[in-house]
Amino acid sequence: MWGMIATWRMAVEGLTEGANTLEKGGSAEEAIVKAISEVEDFPYYKSVGYGGLPNEEMEVELDAAYMNGTTLDFGAVGAVKDFKNPIKIARRLSVEKANNFLVGVGAEKFAHKEGFERKTMLTDRAKIHYKNRVHKLNQQENELTPYSGHDTVGMVALDQQGLMTAGTSTSGLFMKKPGRVGDSPVIGSGLYVDSEIGGATATGLGEDLMKGMV
Ligand code: GLY
Repeated sequence: MWGMIATWRMAVEGLTEGANTLEKGGSAEEAIVKAISEVEDFPYYKSVGYGGLPNEEMEVELDAAYMNGTTLDFGAVGAVKDFKNPIKIARRLSVEKANNFLVGVGAEKFAHKEGFERKTMLTDRAKIHYKNRVHKLNQQENELTPYSGHDTVGMVALDQQGLMTAGTSTSGLFMKKPGRVGDSPVIGSGLYVDSEIGGATATGLGEDLMKGMV
């Protein structure tokens, strides 16, 4: 038996690839990282990875987490800039004994030292969205809301050995303050998985989600 679920339409291609991995007997770890990386790499998804919408200083800051449901080991990054696949950095951090959740410059130093691929994550398309939003904000439409229909990609996988994993990745709230981190990389809020019970990931406004023990 194997299975995989994910949030939003944007996950379908990655999910299909992850499901193929699981069907062939691959691990839930491999499936999740492969599937979420695929979503991170697609330039037209505005809320995850490359092409994600920027903060109020027009910088793309990314959050991601990975959890192993058998060992309960986890890794997470917050507000990381210009690395291609934050989910891979999160997975790498999950094998550390401590320092599993790194943010900002610390996360970037770790990723650089470990040889993770750098990439400018701000696209021309995202710049246009930014400029349009600045224009609207100047016209007093200044309430921050999660963009409709797109948010965190979250996935849960179960492999044929009974191991479950979960992962999340997001560029967070459009026009957030620099350094703002939402629920997505927070274990117990953006995601949780226990191979004996099940797994879950959240999608929505982090400031609302973190008010409860999701
Ligand atoms: N749920 C994504 C965020 O609020 O950052």
